[in-house]
Amino acid sequence: MNSAVQQYINENKERFLSELLEMLRIPSVSADPGFKDQVAKTADLVAESLIKAGCQKVHIYPTKGHPIVYGEHTIDASLPTVLVYGHYDVQPPDPLELWESPPFEPVIKKTALHPDGAIFARGSCDDKGQMFMHVKAFEAMVSHQSLPCNVKFMIEGEEEIGSSNLGTFCNEYKEMLTCDVVLISDTSVIANDIPSITVGLRGLSYVEVEVIGANKDLHSGVYGGAVANPAQVLCDMIASLKDENKHITIPGFYDDVAEVSSEERTAMNKAPFDRDVYMQSLGIHDTMGESDYTILEQTSIRPTLEVNGIWGGYIGEGAKTVLPAKAFAKISMRLVPNQKSDVITALFKKHFESIAPPGVRVEVRPHHGGEAAVTPSDTPEYKAAAMAMNSSYGKEPIPVRGGGSIPIVALFEKVLNVKTVLMGFGLDSDDIHSPNEHYGLFNFYKGIETIPYFYKYYAELKK
Ligand code: BES
Ligand code: MN
Ligand code: MN
Repeated sequence: MNSAVQQYINENKERFLSELLEMLRIPSVSADPGFKDQVAKTADLVAESLIKAGCQKVHIYPTKGHPIVYGEHTIDASLPTVLVYGHYDVQPPDPLELWESPPFEPVIKKTALHPDGAIFARGSCDDKGQMFMHVKAFEAMVSHQSLPCNVKFMIEGEEEIGSSNLGTFCNEYKEMLTCDVVLISDTSVIANDIPSITVGLRGLSYVEVEVIGANKDLHSGVYGGAVANPAQVLCDMIASLKDENKHITIPGFYDDVAEVSSEERTAMNKAPFDRDVYMQSLGIHDTMGESDYTILEQTSIRPTLEVNGIWGGYIGEGAKTVLPAKAFAKISMRLVPNQKSDVITALFKKHFESIAPPGVRVEVRPHHGGEAAVTPSDTPEYKAAAMAMNSSYGKEPIPVRGGGSIPIVALFEKVLNVKTVLMGFGLDSDDIHSPNEHYGLFNFYKGIETIPYFYKYYAELKK
């Protein structure tokens, strides 16, 4: 890389960090309407940071939900254009009592995996910290007139709630968003000394279910034993969704699953992974995945079904002998290539309604969904990312399929007809979505250092 850019990064490290901390102090929780103003305030700060970084055109687009921050910087129409996507919204921080320091008061602490220190705050890794690396890398390149590509920024505030307004925006502003590649840092590396690039994401189908019994809560002694208990029925129904091999029992669920070749499976299982360390770090003594697949496979190339929340009846202090009238659960299914979110949601609904015993009524309400994505590794953009990581880490990155979802990636391909590069810098152990989310300072600075290499190699490969 241009050593002046490197020097600029080194000289401004402290400021980059303090600017990120300022952004982390605003609770941009997209899921909770009570935080709407804070989300908007964060959008303003993102826009301001783009302007300060030297971005020529910055605009905040309001949506039916939270705003989209868009920036454009054109240096030469003949050069390739990189569209940087990221999100400034964060997951709800609860349960608050499990945080060692308040989620929106960032502190820096050392950990075993982050001996240089890590920023503890909601959104530090997912995705404010990773999104902000792009703003700062851009600033460094602009300040030395060494930007080798045109850049567009699209930073949204609804990723954690399904990006539905962004989908509409992409369709509406297709022309404006024209680009050669989408670059995203919202995933992880295997370890700080084992760089990797994500080459696939899973899709998602998310539903909420309600089991309804009697027309009111009842005395469990007077009516129990005769009247259906929705909480219990719900448990039975959920239990039946997987067989003893942890195979999902919904008819048709696996019909469209793209099988992965045995060569590919062999290759992906060569990625460094220690099951004992994995279990130890999670405080568990066994894993419980689908038989015939390794943990790496279970969490990337296989579809899954998980209960995300379940409630009903009495959950307050002490005991109450009640037979609840209703019980609820939130259930999500991670999907793999060729499975269609809408199809899976319909299959789930049909099956779940069909297994309800006559003593209850069941309602299935679909939430958001999204399709899986594969980002091939034989493209100029993948090569540019691999070369960039090789330059900054001194090691060839390993391609890995990710288990999480970024639903908009499949849409970028469909609507904008471009491929995405998922060059993330977090660690899986950074506790995203959990209490005590953190992001390593090493990772933050490594990202800022790697991104200019990507631009350089990408411009060279596209010549
Ligand atoms: N950044 C994550 C996705 C992710 C994390 C991908 C780690 C790969 C590795 C993203 O913010 C996220 O959490 N997405 C949601 C999906 C959304 C529809 C709520 C997810 O995966 O649950
Ligand atoms: Mn994210
Ligand atoms: Mn997330």
